[in-house]
Amino acid sequence: MAIRGQLLTMAIGFAFTAAFLRSAVCFNPPPQHDALDVLPPTNYLGSISPQQVHISLVGKDKMRIMWITQHASPATVEYDTSAGTYGYSATGSTYSYEYLMYKSGEIHDVVIGPLEPNTVYYYRCGSNSSREFSFKTPPVQLPITFAVAGDLGQTRWTKSTLQHISRSGYDVMLLPGDLSYADFNQPLWDSFGRLVEPLSSQRPWMVTQGNHEIEKIPVIHAHPFTSYNARWHMPFEESGSNYNLYYSFEVAGVHVIMLGSYTSFEAGSDQYKWLEADLAKVSRERTPWLLVLVHAPWYNSNTAHQGDYEGEGMRKAMEKLLFDARVDIVFAGHVHAYERFTRIYEGQANACGPVHITIGDGGNREGLCRRYLDPQPQISVFREASFGRGQFQVVNATHALWSWHRNDDDETVRADMVWLSSLASDPACNRM
Ligand SMILES: *[C@@H]1O[C@H](CO)[C@@H](O)[C@H](O)[C@H]1NC(C)=O
Ligand SMILES: *[C@@H]1O[C@H](CO)[C@@H](O)[C@H](O)[C@H]1NC(C)=O
Repeated sequence: MAIRGQLLTMAIGFAFTAAFLRSAVCFNPPPQHDALDVLPPTNYLGSISPQQVHISLVGKDKMRIMWITQHASPATVEYDTSAGTYGYSATGSTYSYEYLMYKSGEIHDVVIGPLEPNTVYYYRCGSNSSREFSFKTPPVQLPITFAVAGDLGQTRWTKSTLQHISRSGYDVMLLPGDLSYADFNQPLWDSFGRLVEPLSSQRPWMVTQGNHEIEKIPVIHAHPFTSYNARWHMPFEESGSNYNLYYSFEVAGVHVIMLGSYTSFEAGSDQYKWLEADLAKVSRERTPWLLVLVHAPWYNSNTAHQGDYEGEGMRKAMEKLLFDARVDIVFAGHVHAYERFTRIYEGQANACGPVHITIGDGGNREGLCRRYLDPQPQISVFREASFGRGQFQVVNATHALWSWHRNDDDETVRADMVWLSSLASDPACNRM
């Protein structure tokens, strides 16, 4: 029965995936690393073992811990600053969701803190205490290092991306959408949770959603983002947003805004009004750096996703807000390749506009998007279809180093690198 249910779910899922992927243009399977999904073994997990643990920043000194158990177990986290001793504890909530024939495990959601900055905490979850985890809180002041990678999926390329990121010495992960590529087949959300756990239980993972998170099927499952919202609760309440699909947070002198490409963004929409209000709250004295993440790129010289409404329509609707606020960088995913643009506004190079970077090359099963518009537009500085990941090291209030690293190289090799100075520190742009 259970197997039949799953097969049915998969059949329906595949039918819809095929329909909605038809517009994508990147199907060249990458050499050697075929589309095989990596399913981590589950036999070491008991029915109340915490699994799929991930953490995310909440407010200025708290952390949300989320994990899943197969059977009921308390939503309690015990933690402290040395291993094996748990002086503090916090309790949160538990829920689950249904998707066609699939019923999720018990999803636990607990916020802990206040926590000290730049400190390692040891913690355990629920009533099975045999797995101890640890994480490091980010610094309260600059410098800080972000890992940036979108369109992760769960292939051998993903594994290689994760390996590179885990050795990079990052403080916070930023993911501009397309996480598991479960594509309606819900157990793949669970395997993704287990695949990323070694990293996502140790450093905050701040994510926004892509088209692969929508998982809406007309009539039979009309509600979008069910699994994403249930499993990846981001701190939207704390940033005055009504929905998990867009929010912001501040860490060590950086204000980060996460936007949603697949929910209304036009002038007058809830997201637009929230963005306006959020930008008005930014203080460049408190946070000299201002970043935005979104799934569908606003600038793109790859032939994949050229002119899509999610990218181009959103750019038309929101670009002026970001320009007027002097946003430093816009990171996007969606196109499975790497591309860095110069500072832009309204299609033209503009010294006071954001740098646009597409970093949709985390390792998904659809392959790389290898075809580009020719000739390369002048505003596009560097483009390459290889799997990899980005690193954004904010050194101080004025200087930051962006670098892009291919999976094919040693992790220390920077295939692309640029020093950026903050727009807030540029007198010609500074209107703050
Ligand atoms: C407790 O966790 C350990 C390690 O994950 C696992 O081997 C054991 O089966 C778990 N016990 C239960 C009852 O879940
Ligand atoms: C900020 O960092 C850059 C690059 O390391 C350095 O040249 C500059 O002097 C630093 N500024 C301050 C105020 O420390």
